[in-house]
Amino acid sequence: MLSFAGLLLGAIFPFAGAAATNVYDYVIVGGGATGLSLAVRLSEDPNRTVVVLEAGNSGIGNPNITNLRLNSNNFGTANDWQFVTVPQVDVGNRVQAQVQGKVLGGGSAINSGMYLRGNKDEYDALERLGAKGWKWDSMFAVVKESEHFHPPSQTEVETFNMTWNPAAHGFAGPISVAIQAVNVSHFFPEYAVPTLKALGHEMNNDPNGGFHNGPSWDFLTSLADSSTRSYAVSGYYLPVMNRTNLRVMTESQGSKIVWSSSSTRGLMTASGVEYVVFHESGVPETRTIDAKNIILSGSALNTPKILELSGVGDPEVLSSLGIDVVVDLPGVGANLCNQPITTASYLLKNGTVNAGNAIRSAIIDIQPFSGYLSGEDLKRSEELLQTKPDLLSEAQFKFMKEQIKAGVPQMEFAWNVAADANNVSTLRFDRLILVKPLSRGTVHINSTDPLEPPVIDPKLAG
Ligand SMILES: *[C@@H]1O[C@H](CO)[C@@H](O)[C@H](O)[C@H]1NC(C)=O
Ligand SMILES: *[C@@H]1O[C@H](CO)[C@@H](O)[C@H](O)[C@H]1NC(C)=O
Ligand SMILES: *[C@@H]1O[C@H](CO)[C@@H](O)[C@H](O)[C@H]1NC(C)=O
Ligand SMILES: *[C@@H]1O[C@H](CO)[C@@H](O)[C@H](O)[C@H]1NC(C)=O
Ligand SMILES: *[C@@H]1O[C@H](CO)[C@@H](O)[C@H](O)[C@H]1NC(C)=O
Ligand SMILES: *[C@@H]1O[C@H](CO)[C@@H](O)[C@H](O)[C@H]1NC(C)=O
Ligand SMILES: *[C@@H]1O[C@H](CO)[C@@H](O)[C@H](O)[C@H]1NC(C)=O
Ligand SMILES: *[C@@H]1O[C@H](CO)[C@@H](O)[C@H](O)[C@H]1NC(C)=O
Repeated sequence: MLSFAGLLLGAIFPFAGAAATNVYDYVIVGGGATGLSLAVRLSEDPNRTVVVLEAGNSGIGNPNITNLRLNSNNFGTANDWQFVTVPQVDVGNRVQAQVQGKVLGGGSAINSGMYLRGNKDEYDALERLGAKGWKWDSMFAVVKESEHFHPPSQTEVETFNMTWNPAAHGFAGPISVAIQAVNVSHFFPEYAVPTLKALGHEMNNDPNGGFHNGPSWDFLTSLADSSTRSYAVSGYYLPVMNRTNLRVMTESQGSKIVWSSSSTRGLMTASGVEYVVFHESGVPETRTIDAKNIILSGSALNTPKILELSGVGDPEVLSSLGIDVVVDLPGVGANLCNQPITTASYLLKNGTVNAGNAIRSAIIDIQPFSGYLSGEDLKRSEELLQTKPDLLSEAQFKFMKEQIKAGVPQMEFAWNVAADANNVSTLRFDRLILVKPLSRGTVHINSTDPLEPPVIDPKLAG
């Protein structure tokens, strides 16, 4: 049962409206970009009571979060779930970090702020695979509603030859977006762009309009002319934090769905959520909260865990842990796919031109495999494409092969030549990303303890 005193514990934000009732209209598990924006939209109706359970702390005002350039300070700290994969067989049995925001705002609080939509063909493929309403034309109109684009100034445009397409942006949404224009080095227009052009890579004047092949300026979720992060907390939550029908509880980790004892037409009905509250002493305490509607938005890694702990999932996984199967749903925790990212640095000869010592890559380059792979590598990839990776569906494999052949981009690069304190130059690939890996993996629980991490096996390069 929910008690008012229980509600105050672990909560940091005022709430008065729903005190009269013990049953919320909505409980949202996970206060990340999805959970918080949904909570804010749902609570626009003052008659709806909405509560958000966030496992991490609020992070509000922490410069590691508010300054985009400090984002990696959060990795491996309390603001990160600090997940790691199991040893990855196809990458030398190495264990890889899976950084995942554990703080209000979730990933949007600790990511590097890149603002880049998918390609038109990718959205259209989603609809053709059965996800009705996901085709580019439908999505493009909607996603622009969350954006407030701040175009670069006339001086920045003239100095750096910055380009953008007004039709590719929204101008009235809650999330600020800007080209990384402050303190851009002349290195980029003078050296980086000509180098890419010499490689035959044609500039793309704006990658956000459904076609992202080619080098372009890097668009970030930041306020104009600053490195201040714009994210779910600053854009959606803070402006309405005093709504009396919206309550956000931090340090409260949703652990499982509470099922109602009755089922309707054979369908299970949920009546609430069990969660763990962390007191200041760090001692966890389990509580429940009652709600008419439950939304799980704990990410691709945490949501399967909550479902499995609730008895929803693959009977084989559940029975091995002695969990009663409530809903037989083998897809839970399957088909895990993530974009691997790595970095690389090369020390250059002294005297090599550079972009200074405080500059991030301002140009990104997104390419099909043919943009970077050698003829020999391309031949080898043709061979690899003859065989479907084990856990990938036949239908997805067909679409992905088509896209690779059609030159839909597969790789993303961001590079820069940075100087150290002695003006020694380093060629830094800040981001090397495989944007559409074919490998599919799994994420499952191996314990009934909600505080144990899930077992993550993305089967990288598998
Ligand atoms: C909220 O409920 C009251 C009382 O039932 C009703 O008069 C009002 O129109 C409702 N408001 C909204 C926004 O639905
Ligand atoms: C910011 O991150 C650094 C590095 O992880 C850490 O030492 C520092 O305490 C953090 N600052 C805050 C306010 O959390
Ligand atoms: C500026 O960019 C446009 C579009 O990419 C290109 O056509 C033009 O040559 C560039 N101008 C300069 C001075 O680099
Ligand atoms: C731009 O550079 C100046 C001088 O180094 C520095 O004071 C300022 O903080 C920088 N601005 C941003 C947004 O990085
Ligand atoms: C919310 O209420 C607090 C305390 O009254 C106040 O300081 C704050 O400015 C309010 N926030 C908004 C966005 O209205
Ligand atoms: C760093 O070295 C480059 C290449 O020699 C030179 O152009 C630049 O002026 C140097 N910068 C500083 C701050 O010494
Ligand atoms: C490059 O310059 C740095 C700093 O001046 C110096 O320590 C280093 O020895 C030089 N390296 C080479 C290869 O000359
Ligand atoms: C669960 O998996 C992790 C990572 O593979 C392992 O360290 C741990 O011992 C496993 N726990 C159980 C109870 O099997």
